[in-house]
Amino acid sequence: MNTEVKRGRFITLEGGEGVGKSTQVSRLVERLRGAGVDAIATREPGGSPGAEALRHLLLSGKIKDLGPKAEAILFAAARIDHIDRKIAPALAAGTWVVSDRFADSTRAYQGLGGLDPGFLHALEHVTLGEIRPDLTLILDLPADIGLARAAQRRGSEASDRFEAEDLGFHAALRQAYLEIAAAEPARCVIVDAGLSEGEVAQAIWDTVSFRLLARAAHGA
Ligand code: TMP
Repeated sequence: MNTEVKRGRFITLEGGEGVGKSTQVSRLVERLRGAGVDAIATREPGGSPGAEALRHLLLSGKIKDLGPKAEAILFAAARIDHIDRKIAPALAAGTWVVSDRFADSTRAYQGLGGLDPGFLHALEHVTLGEIRPDLTLILDLPADIGLARAAQRRGSEASDRFEAEDLGFHAALRQAYLEIAAAEPARCVIVDAGLSEGEVAQAIWDTVSFRLLARAAHGA
């Protein structure tokens, strides 16, 4: 009798502004479905009605005045709702979840806010429970190129809370992501986001195939 618990895989895409995560999340989900895998796309902050309401507040910049600790806690609150209402039920049903950002965004962005690392570590611990990404793809791009791409995409709309930070912040953010990747090589893979959209999609697909699909096929 096969007693193995069916569980979907959890993939997160991370990186700074303008690296092309949302496009790549859609492409990956489409390709997974094409390969016969039941998969959904989601994003943070957001992904559930409660978390989307918090997204609106967080990106408006209104929360910034409450200070970095409160801001980090609200990102965590949004994540808890997202996990409870969407991610955990999908994984339990055997559906693969591909999320545009997750806990590494808090590590990287709020980590630059001068918060005690012990506080962020404890917050992550209580927020995630048992949920951990199986694979995190970090889309890497020099900060000035990413910001220029984000500005082009935004057009005449005002920049949001974090896009409005200076170039020094975004350069430090890129380093923070590279450090996360270096610290957890079993989970994280860096993808060169300076390649064409199709090349980035292929690099992501090759990684997912090698790291997850081959193992899923062998029941690992
Ligand atoms: P985006 O999804 O359009 O990239 O916007 C989300 C913004 O929120 C982005 O600037 C990164 C930021 N963010 C954090 O600072 N911490 C977090 O935990 C998450 C999920 C996002």
